[in-house]
Amino acid sequence: MEAPWIRICELAPHEGKRVTIKGWVYNKRSSGKIHFLQVRDGSGFIQAVMERSSVSEELFAAAKSLWLEASVEIEGTVRRDDRAPSGFELGVTDLRIVSNPTLEYPISKKEHGIDFLLDHRHLWLRSRRQRCIMAIRDRVILSCRNFLHSKGFMLVDSPILTGSIGEGADGLFELDYFDLGKAYLAQTGQLYLEAAAAAYGRVYCFGPTFRAEKSKTRRHLTEFWMIEPEAAFFEHRDNMALQEEMVSHLVKEVLEHHEKDLVFLERDVDALARAVDGPFHHITYDEAVKLLHKLGSDIPYGDDFGGDDETMLTQQFQRPVFVECYPKKVKAFYMKQHPEREDLVLCDDLLAPEGYGEIIGGSQREDDLDLLLSSIRAHNLPEESYSWYLDIRRYGSFPHSGFGMGIERAVAWICGLKHIREAIPWPRTIYRLNP
Ligand code: 4AD
Ligand code: MG
Repeated sequence: MEAPWIRICELAPHEGKRVTIKGWVYNKRSSGKIHFLQVRDGSGFIQAVMERSSVSEELFAAAKSLWLEASVEIEGTVRRDDRAPSGFELGVTDLRIVSNPTLEYPISKKEHGIDFLLDHRHLWLRSRRQRCIMAIRDRVILSCRNFLHSKGFMLVDSPILTGSIGEGADGLFELDYFDLGKAYLAQTGQLYLEAAAAAYGRVYCFGPTFRAEKSKTRRHLTEFWMIEPEAAFFEHRDNMALQEEMVSHLVKEVLEHHEKDLVFLERDVDALARAVDGPFHHITYDEAVKLLHKLGSDIPYGDDFGGDDETMLTQQFQRPVFVECYPKKVKAFYMKQHPEREDLVLCDDLLAPEGYGEIIGGSQREDDLDLLLSSIRAHNLPEESYSWYLDIRRYGSFPHSGFGMGIERAVAWICGLKHIREAIPWPRTIYRLNP
């Protein structure tokens, strides 16, 4: 192949020129005189048209022998085609088969059940739909990182193997750690970030987190990725303002760069644009319970919201809604007590509209040593393993706040997915550890 190797996403400046594309045949149609090869190279999709009259007999026969997902190098001339998704097609002049499978590709155009697709996740990722989702996921992560960096937040990675329970004793993955007893897989990087916030002011971490909850909902994974900012001298209000700015920013970035992907996913793009076209809503937990009762729910005052409650609530709003100040007893031990209501904490859950529900959990942190200690005791957590965490309150305690956004929850909402499992390349649920 003499022509330069170009990726499909970079074709535009090569119109009229000969290029080489390296990729896989994801579909094929032939008549006696012409083969239409649908080729993808990871960056995009293009139709390569091979005419019998413009190649040798052998080459035309070789193309006919291609199975789906054969890997190929194709040389051809770039022609504009406004109907094509990439805007171009390739007039084939040469073809090299890198590897032609000898088996039928398991994923076909027909409807497959979700379990079949998940069993073949390693192949399913090649589909156009999955590419759209993964590209949006990449954008969400990139936008969050760029946003936080631009606001002066420093990335400080947190450990995955930990000795202190981050969120609560339920839902921990435990393992034996040499002679040191139990280790846990991190449920959050927050506690470490609080220490880092005292060191560097504005920090964040981004990594996988683990929850061994036996939740079988469309919102729960046992392993998910969380972006967690933490800021010194930020109070509850500052914290929510940062969340709103970050979420608006990343949705706008996705709208700007991925409109075609959203349309392919059949996402209601206008609804998504409306969601960030104006300030987010705020209601308190108390108001939310009243609203739920009005909508027909029988949730007792003081209970945490379940998925159904959140769905019901968010259907009332076009833009994301902050639910503030939950009862202390349903939230994690580290949240700061409400200044006027001992039974509440200064926290917020940010619920995405259209029924999606919680994408962010955030709070101001308890900075009073004695209150924090009594909360650790009230939650029956092992006091010894928090001595380092309590030091943050012993040496220059300071008001501080932070939050965690689950990447998959955000991606599921933005892409309009019915289930969170498509928002992560390799979903882990209570039923799935492979592939
Ligand atoms: O509300 P959560 O449990 O908050 C924390 O972990 C805090 N320590 C974060 C912080 O303040 N630094 O989780 C935060 C977010 C949720 O809003 C949700 O988006 C996501 O993490 N999340 C899950 N995503 C998928 N599967 C699960 N099982 C999840 N649990 C939480
Ligand atoms: Mg939460």
